[in-house]
Amino acid sequence: MSKKFSRLPLKGMEDFFPSDIREINWIIEQIIDIVELYNYEEYLGPLLEPIEIYAAKSSEELVYEQSYYIEDKKGRKFILRPEITPTLARMIARKSQELKKPIRWYAIPTCYRYEAPQKGRRREFLQFNADILGEDSLYAELEIFSISVDIFTSFGATADQFQIFYNNRRFIDDICELILEIPKDKMPLVFKILDKSDKMEESEFEKYVIDSFQDEFIVQGILKLKESNGIQELLDKFDEIPEKFYDSEGYKDIKSLEVLINETGLSEFCTFSSSVVRGLDYYTGTVFEVYDTGKENIRAIFGGGRYDDLLSLFSEEQLSGIGFGMGVLMFSLFLNTYNLIPDFVYERDFSDTVYITCVNESVAKYAIQLANIIRGEDFPCIIDYKFKSLKSQLSRASELGILIALIVGEKEMEQNEVSIKNMATNKQKTINSEDIIEEIYKILDELEEMESE
Ligand code: HAM
Repeated sequence: MSKKFSRLPLKGMEDFFPSDIREINWIIEQIIDIVELYNYEEYLGPLLEPIEIYAAKSSEELVYEQSYYIEDKKGRKFILRPEITPTLARMIARKSQELKKPIRWYAIPTCYRYEAPQKGRRREFLQFNADILGEDSLYAELEIFSISVDIFTSFGATADQFQIFYNNRRFIDDICELILEIPKDKMPLVFKILDKSDKMEESEFEKYVIDSFQDEFIVQGILKLKESNGIQELLDKFDEIPEKFYDSEGYKDIKSLEVLINETGLSEFCTFSSSVVRGLDYYTGTVFEVYDTGKENIRAIFGGGRYDDLLSLFSEEQLSGIGFGMGVLMFSLFLNTYNLIPDFVYERDFSDTVYITCVNESVAKYAIQLANIIRGEDFPCIIDYKFKSLKSQLSRASELGILIALIVGEKEMEQNEVSIKNMATNKQKTINSEDIIEEIYKILDELEEMESE
């Protein structure tokens, strides 16, 4: 016997069977409905991009440890997109003059990251993105938070099941500069440490901070930045705060955002979190991540933030943007955890499908003509090409859950007729082929009446 190849996909890649696709489409269609209510338009870029556009402002880890590369015939190396935000910036820079601001766009790219496959993380994954560019005020943050909340609640999720944890990089910058007096060039390290903090045990984190910063005052300061769930709660941890801190942009921004969140009814869904700083370098202001509040799904479902100068990679123009990426897999795990996906999503709906049975092959062409008439009226239609006994064809139809069947025999074909059967009542009659559509509607009405009784 010849050797058989593995039936499994490559590690971290996924096969999507029809019922998986039904779930994904159901989720995505609902999310599209939400973002379109906010007037976002869909865009998409290429799967391959130059490495530089990620190397410049995404993160070293993402580009040098987690990316897939592809080489073309001329030996040029490209990156298989690990995220779409740099592509978005490139596309906007390309047409910025023509685009009316603010620009509201969404995309559903497949992305690639060479990560250890684990719950909620794959090497190939679908990510839903929504971004608003050209709106500098905090109303953009509010809109993005509001979309995120609407997405969750439209599926029936409640505030005790998910939370948006938000922070502001400038605010953390200001604490580090004005309170802890950490040199500016050390800030990338502070963000890196904080970004990794939730994946580390307390003692491991402490050691990491001590190894990175020998200064006791700074070490104690950074340890305080881990896990505060209130702005004041965090500030209360510091003995002395200079007056100029309260005038800093970061402090004023996060306080104003907190007020807006409280005033617009979003507060039950949003919590400040001092350790959310995000691993991507291009974020400059507000940053946030959405988590399941239970123990089941520990990784972020959404991640996003504001980026003030991503466009500078491609043009002189400064255009600030804010948006999020949502892992469709993470979101589906979340929905499954809380039983928020109804069973019908996984089942095929045959309620208006017509099943054509043929007594033998001689009537096949006539059956095809009938099927064309039926599909022309937008009813799905299946022809049974096995030409087994009528009994077996009808039982196959009934196994599928078909409610309307046609029976095509030689005599019917000669007289341009067909028998139509309501599979729920077993009532059957012979009709002229011109009346098929009318009869289908009649049966659908009968079925509806039966259901409402
Ligand atoms: P990110 O945090 O790298 O942000 O990814 C956002 C979300 O994508 C994550 O919270 C997670 O749900 C999902 N995700 C990331 N990696 C994987 C993976 N290996 N497998 C499955 N899902 C994954 C960004 O990508 C930013 N570009 C988002 C953004 C848009 N910021 C502003 N606009």
